[in-house]
Amino acid sequence: MARLEKRSWAEPFKIKMVELLKMTTKEQRIKAIKEAGYNTFLLKSEDVYIDLLTDSGTSAMSDRQWAGLMQGDEAYAGSKNFYTLERAVKKYYGYKYLIPTHQGRGAENILSQVMIKKGDIIPGNMYFTTTRLHQELAGGTFIDVIIDEAHDSESLHPFKGNIDLDKLKAVIKKHGPHRIPYICVAVTVNMAGGQPVSMQNLKELRALTSKHGIKIMLDMTRIAENAFFIQQREKGFSRRSVASIVKDICSYTDGATFSGKKDALVNIGGFLALNDAEKFEEASNLVVVYEGLHTYGGLAGRDMEAMAIGIEESVQDEHMKARIGQVLYLGEQLTKADIPIVLPIGGHGIFIDAKKFLPHLTQDQFPAQVLAAELYEDAGIRAMERGIVSAGRNAKTGNHYYPKLELVRLTIPRRVYTQAHMDVIAESVQSVYDRRNKIKGLAMIYEPKYLRFFQARFKKLA
Ligand code: F0G
Repeated sequence: MARLEKRSWAEPFKIKMVELLKMTTKEQRIKAIKEAGYNTFLLKSEDVYIDLLTDSGTSAMSDRQWAGLMQGDEAYAGSKNFYTLERAVKKYYGYKYLIPTHQGRGAENILSQVMIKKGDIIPGNMYFTTTRLHQELAGGTFIDVIIDEAHDSESLHPFKGNIDLDKLKAVIKKHGPHRIPYICVAVTVNMAGGQPVSMQNLKELRALTSKHGIKIMLDMTRIAENAFFIQQREKGFSRRSVASIVKDICSYTDGATFSGKKDALVNIGGFLALNDAEKFEEASNLVVVYEGLHTYGGLAGRDMEAMAIGIEESVQDEHMKARIGQVLYLGEQLTKADIPIVLPIGGHGIFIDAKKFLPHLTQDQFPAQVLAAELYEDAGIRAMERGIVSAGRNAKTGNHYYPKLELVRLTIPRRVYTQAHMDVIAESVQSVYDRRNKIKGLAMIYEPKYLRFFQARFKKLA
């Protein structure tokens, strides 16, 4: 018998506790999604079988993290867990000053208010919903300077999150460096499909921005995933640890916002990290207004402890190998079945190209919203729309933004589901694909003012 060449990845952990799930019938699901206005955000979690809405706050904590919760020092001021977190941030990311926040958007709010003046321009490598909104609320205007490949679901560019330096130069020339307080760089780029930024690109960006006195603020929410892709794909990094690459990424930047709910394997938490003492003082002042004292920022002491431990676990090579390995496994099942997905396969999930999946629907009929609802009906899988509904409306003209990418995100929580779950998901997507021609569009019947994708309601078109 021929010997097997292949060596599989597997999880570097075993399961100590399980959470039982309710199984539903198709009839129950058809009713539930209709009641939810065909918006997966409005479903009850107990009606969901495999929850791929987000990788945010949905990770399984380790036994060490759970033990950390018991070490919570719930003092109002100067909790010892704050100092543990501060040490972890210095050790793994290298930033000087730390302000905890309840989650990522808390940090985005503080950063935007401290850095942005009315009329400022904030270039970035593709927008993220909450990040852009905070920039706009502070009086700024976001300008996308990501490379064109990022908007093309078929481009195989290994670093589709890269900043197009020529686009950035044009923005600087047009508006002047004094109007640009910072460029916001996300690693990996969520809305592009979890696509990484290369170290080379960051290095060149640092050189360009230094010349003009423009700061670089990192959205480091999924930095360990980005570091893993650098290790796998960028020349000169194959022997480097994820941890050391993470630290290198941070070294090219002036500060960062962080949602600990992703990479850092916790259910709640985030922070703002800065290297500038003056801005740190301003931010420490402001955090008291919105989040809480600067040594807890809306978190319990135990939350900060769990996040510090999670940061350490997140940068371990074997953890990242299994994490991305699972996402790749699902992506490969789908590509084998000819399902149109964003390639290369990204870090935190699989992004189905809804325009290609449902080519008979116009973007105004919300194809990604439709597909997410169909997946729920089929097998109780909850995905998220990342297309025209998420993009919202232009604040000045009131028109929809029409993003090139109209995607359904199958986001994989960390350390939660098994390979068998991945098979169930792949089979369900295929079954919806087989009957795609019969699928009808949606009309929006309720639209909230801010971040409409969370609460909008729809009805099926006849
Ligand atoms: N930046 C990125 C790249 C994100 O993906 C998120 C959250 C945030 C900032 C905001 O962080 O949720 O802790 O306030 N993304 C979640 C998601 C909601 O499902 O992608 P937060």
